[in-house]
Amino acid sequence: MKIAVFVSGGGTNLQAIIDNIKSGYLSGVEISLVVASNSGAYALQRAADNGIPSKVLSVKDFPSREEWDKTVLSEVKASGAELIVLAGYLSLLGAQTVREYSNRIINIHPALIPAFCGAGMYGIKPHEAVLKRGVKVSGATVHFVNENYDEGPIILQKAVDVQWDDTPEVLQKRIMKECEQVILPRAIRLIADGKVVIENNIAYVKDQEEK
Ligand code: GAR
Repeated sequence: MKIAVFVSGGGTNLQAIIDNIKSGYLSGVEISLVVASNSGAYALQRAADNGIPSKVLSVKDFPSREEWDKTVLSEVKASGAELIVLAGYLSLLGAQTVREYSNRIINIHPALIPAFCGAGMYGIKPHEAVLKRGVKVSGATVHFVNENYDEGPIILQKAVDVQWDDTPEVLQKRIMKECEQVILPRAIRLIADGKVVIENNIAYVKDQEEK
């Protein structure tokens, strides 16, 4: 299964996918394209280091959002990708892309949806909000993407305890390592194996190991 991975920053989630392809856990999965929202994303270097084709497609470089959306969609299609993986992608996808890849776009969010999500909750912000509210568990969620931020069917979640002396940065690092980099490759494996079924806006993971 070919996948297109969308990035905006450091690319640790992209790296986790690459490492899991190399280790054989994601055998049969190939990253056909990396799409970055900005040219400064270190994730682009990770793609280059691993011989993966990449494109910088930034809305601001196009005459309109529609033109940008059209280009994104045609590049992804041309790469042969069957699944779009938003791995730390901080822009909202275009409507046409979301429609055409309906139920074939997944996102990793650094909190336990439906808490600490939605517009403006990205990067370090959910972790700041978690500490401000004093909740005792947080984690990450992989979900399908629809036209609203963080509202599509949930595929996998993983939690960690929040420690009394956590800073947003410390919590972010722990969630990236122990949650995001575990459940994002796992979700891709499950989808590639046809084990994720969506019925009535709920994603059912039909796998014994996941119980
Ligand atoms: C990750 O923590 C990811 O969950 C988050 O951005 C970070 C990107 O890290 N995504 C969002 O906040 C999306 N709402 P990375 O570039 O090192 O993978």
